[in-house]
Amino acid sequence: MVVEDLPYRRLRYQGSDIPTLRDLDAECVIQLSSFSKLLSPGIRVGWMVAPVAIAQRVAQIATDTYITPNMLGQGLAYEFIYEGKLEENIARLRRLYAPRLTTMMHALSRYLPQASWTKPDGGFFVGLTLPEGSNSTQVAEKARGVNLVLSNSAGFFADGDGSRFIRLPFCALNEKEIEEAIKRLAFVIQAVNQ
Ligand SMILES: Cc1ncc(COP(=O)(O)O)c(C=O)c1O
Repeated sequence: MVVEDLPYRRLRYQGSDIPTLRDLDAECVIQLSSFSKLLSPGIRVGWMVAPVAIAQRVAQIATDTYITPNMLGQGLAYEFIYEGKLEENIARLRRLYAPRLTTMMHALSRYLPQASWTKPDGGFFVGLTLPEGSNSTQVAEKARGVNLVLSNSAGFFADGDGSRFIRLPFCALNEKEIEEAIKRLAFVIQAVNQ
């Protein structure tokens, strides 16, 4: 079985949808997603799409583990969808986040031409690869000094490496803040390499 985790899938800002793994093989894929990025992280509601026998087993384990689901959160998600507000909200989020991704792409080209980065069509994050000789742990430590808080890079790698990787979130900052953040990051990378 393959577990496909796609909480960002509806947040596409450019290009067209590609098939999910489950579209390719519904019997061998368990699909997980969440309302955290589409409605609110606070309601703590997500979902699983799986072959019936697996869904029944997971439902049993869930019942045996936490007895009852978060019904208030589920009720909120239900009403939001039932009233047709989810699609409206997704369209609003796409309008809000798309220019932030564009700003981040431009800021990276402008301030960090010596690094390389992913060019996503959606989601929340850009994956930055630091230039050869740079180290993400050192950069993250020094970045705190200029009020730039970066995630621990090792956590994104199964082998715990990530020594030149930095995850850059672009959705929670406005365009001005993104520009400033990348400017500070470039300053820190340069300072660490000196
Ligand atoms: C890839 C991925 N999967 C799953 C989640 C979990 O979402 P939640 O536990 O908020 O439903 C996140 C949240 O940040 C995520 O980035």
